[in-house]
Amino acid sequence: MFQGMGNQANRQIIFNQHPEGWPERECFRLEPGDSPEPKEGEVLLRTTWLSVDPYMRGRMNPGPSYIPPFELGQPIEGGVVARVEQSRHASFPEGTFVQGMLPWADYSVSDGVGLYPVDPSLAPVQRFLGVLGMPGLTAWFGLMEIGKPQPGETVVVSGAAGAVGSLAGQLARQQGCRVVGIAGSEEKVNWIVNELGFDAGINYKATPDLLEALRAACPKGVDIHFDNVGGSIADALLLCLNRKGRIVLCGQISQYNLTEFEQGPRSDLLLVGKSARKEGFIVTDFQDRFHEGVAQLGKLHASGSIRVREQVWDGLERAPDAFLGLFRGENLGKALVRVWHPDQSPTG
Ligand SMILES: NC(=O)c1ccc[n+]([C@@H]2O[C@H](COP(=O)([O-])OP(=O)(O)OC[C@H]3O[C@@H](n4cnc5c(N)ncnc54)[C@H](OP(=O)(O)O)[C@@H]3O)[C@@H](O)[C@H]2O)c1
Repeated sequence: MFQGMGNQANRQIIFNQHPEGWPERECFRLEPGDSPEPKEGEVLLRTTWLSVDPYMRGRMNPGPSYIPPFELGQPIEGGVVARVEQSRHASFPEGTFVQGMLPWADYSVSDGVGLYPVDPSLAPVQRFLGVLGMPGLTAWFGLMEIGKPQPGETVVVSGAAGAVGSLAGQLARQQGCRVVGIAGSEEKVNWIVNELGFDAGINYKATPDLLEALRAACPKGVDIHFDNVGGSIADALLLCLNRKGRIVLCGQISQYNLTEFEQGPRSDLLLVGKSARKEGFIVTDFQDRFHEGVAQLGKLHASGSIRVREQVWDGLERAPDAFLGLFRGENLGKALVRVWHPDQSPTG
């Protein structure tokens, strides 16, 4: 039996100001929070892990997007794994783990809507924010449903050493494709090639002529670009795309901090000539099939056929640093914040 918050203080990270261009530390502030008490039908949750994700940058802009913006003066909200400390809700017993979109705080209260049980016997609980959660599902559905890889094809993944990219590349490899990853350091390229089994890797920050490097790494051209970054990397890839090629528009992180649209090549004519397809998607487009994706990813993860790495920042107060680090390429693998680490939460 847990004792609620006991005499533990609650802290939260508040959305302090809108960024102009690159977000800064000042966009966030850490402050004491209320000591929430669960009412009938609610649970008191203690945050164990939280996820920082690039899409959250879009929520820092005031305008509408596919997900509502963060509200100034309110806690930042994101993917969280938490332990149920006190339960007045029949579906979520005390001591169990859950995940959901929850505030960046040590403790929070939920009525259970949008909360999902997490089984620590299947995998360390934080994996439900990575390979067995949103990034894993993004890689799975983006590659399999939008990219539709065929054996022998060449797949290039940009953002290849990140949460989504590292999985998309490994999945494409398992489909019998030649896989080339683009990432921002030698360490990242070594990891994807030597440990994850990518066929080749390009450090875009140390490559003066990306197009030349791509042509060398993809002698048969590119059939699928799994695009996590956009910008000039995507422009170069378009020139290598084969007839009937597919561009999986997963993300455009190189564009998230721009204050004006970048002027790039007007290249759609190339898509016409190549009878190629460019298709954006949001992972929730596949929400009614998430169980299918989790089952597939769970099997692959449990058997060791896909490998993961986590970049962990320790402490709730480090969450802004972890988030800002995404735009500086500080994470290798899935970026996570360990807020609290109960003995019951194996890290594996
Ligand atoms: N469509 C969806 O539903 C969906 C869902 C989840 C994620 N996404 C998108 O997928 C992409 C990857 O997300 P993630 O969670 O896996 O993040 P991540 O790749 O783990 O982390 C972000 C990485 O992006 C790279 N990056 C940052 N700025 C860059 C730039 N200007 N040019 C090139 N690379 C840059 C950095 O690696 P380097 O060191 O290699 O630069 C950084 O480590 C993002 O664009 C995200 O928005 C889309």
